[in-house]
Order: sequence, then structure tokens, then C-alpha cells
Amino acid sequence: GTGAVTPGRGDGGPPPRRAWIAARTLRTDRWWLQPLLTAVALVLFIIYATFRAFQNAYYFSEPYISPFYSPCITTACEGDTFPELFTGPTWISPALYILVFPLGIRLTCYYYRKAYYRSFWLSPPACAVAEPHRRYTGETRLPLLGQNIHRYALYAALVINVILFYDAVLAFRDETGEWGHMGLGTLILLVNAVLLFLYSLSCHSCRHIVGGRINNFSKHPLRYKAWGLVSRLNGRHMQFAWASLFTVAFADFYVFLLATGTISDFRFF
Ligand code: FES
Repeated sequence: GTGAVTPGRGDGGPPPRRAWIAARTLRTDRWWLQPLLTAVALVLFIIYATFRAFQNAYYFSEPYISPFYSPCITTACEGDTFPELFTGPTWISPALYILVFPLGIRLTCYYYRKAYYRSFWLSPPACAVAEPHRRYTGETRLPLLGQNIHRYALYAALVINVILFYDAVLAFRDETGEWGHMGLGTLILLVNAVLLFLYSLSCHSCRHIVGGRINNFSKHPLRYKAWGLVSRLNGRHMQFAWASLFTVAFADFYVFLLATGTISDFRFF
């Protein structure tokens, strides 16, 4: 659009942080497409995940548990993949107790911040497109100041990663508990666990934890090696974010289909 929009003045102090161009943007490409697709995909995921987290049913089908419900920590849980830590009222979905972990890492993730600041808050919607907001305070005050917990959200997510791997290992048993089974569900849980782990490992905070605060890499050859590896993964962080978002929903959906009796598991052996 080329409507006359008064450019923002940054955080209030002179000089203006943007050039005084009357047009909102001089870009002529479809700069709105990416934020739009991002918003649509995120909204679809949020609707599906909210519905499933509150459904409180069809999340377990021997030997598979939906990643939305794992670790399942109350006595109300179907299945026995994780120790029951307390007795919760049965009307509270066990998914809700652990929702804070995936929510914590995804909401404060550097990539998702970029994604939702652009596509939901239009702040700004794309490079070289002025935002509608008059003031810009960055992440210097509440609630966005809370984004600083990201490192701790990562620690918690790593624990969940291990548990989902454990679920995938347990999925190598059959319905009777005998080892040596492998079904399509086993494969789906495994791929999902790997992608979620890669999402965590490629995290910007992870890269800093592994290689940050070192003045001299030559004195820390192991950390340098690890940092190189994490840096390579970090370049693909956005791809891991989307791929794992897809597989986590798909793994849940597959368990849903099994638990409702809609399909039966394809068995390799
Ligand atoms: Fe995305 Fe840490 S930056 S998970």
C-alpha cells in the first residue's frame, strides 16, 4: 500500500529512527505473504492443540502415548509410561499440567518471536515495511521482558525431550509388553522425538550455552567443536521449529486415530 502513514519515531526520543518516507513501504513484492502464511499455520496449530489438550481422551493407544500428554503425571492418566506423581481431579486434562513446557520454549523462542511479532503484531510485518504502532520499546518492559526466561525454558524442554525419547523406546514393545515390536506409530514417535531434540539443540540459547563466554576457543577445543556443530544446526532453527511443530501434531493425531479405532497401526514387525 502507499497510503500516507506517518512514520514512527522509534522510542520517543529524537532523532526519528526511520527515514521520513510517506509511503508505508516502497517494497513492490508480496512482502505480506510470509507473515500471512505464518499466521494461518500458527492459528491452525493453536486451534488443534487447544482442542486436543482439553479433550482429555484418545491420547493413549498401547504402546503409544500422544506427545501432547507426555509425561502423563497424574493418577487419572491412561497408560503407564510415566510414574504417577499425584492424584489430580479427573476432569482436569493431564495435558494441561505439562503444557507450560512446550508453551514456554515456543513462546519465548527467538524464531517464533520473529514469527509472531511480524504476523500477529505487525511489528513490523516485514523488512522495510513500517509498523502501525507509534511507540517501540522492544523487549525492555513487561510483558516482553519475560522473554528473558528463554534459557530456562530450554532446560525444561530438554527434560521433556528425553521423556519423549523414552516414550519412543517404549513403543518398541507390543500391546502385551513384549519387546521387538515396531509399528508405524513407533516410527512416528521416534521421528518426532528426534525433530523436537534437534529443535532444542539448534536453539540460540543452546548455542550460547555451548560456546558463549569463551575468550579463547583454542583453549577449549571440545566446546569449540560442539559450538561448530550447534551453529550449523542453528542455521536451520526455523526449519526445525516448523518440522517439529508439524510432527508433534501429527504424532498426536496418529494416536488419536488409533485410540478412536478409526485406523489400526501398520506393523513392520
Ligand atoms: Fe528457538 Fe531457543 S531460539 S528454541
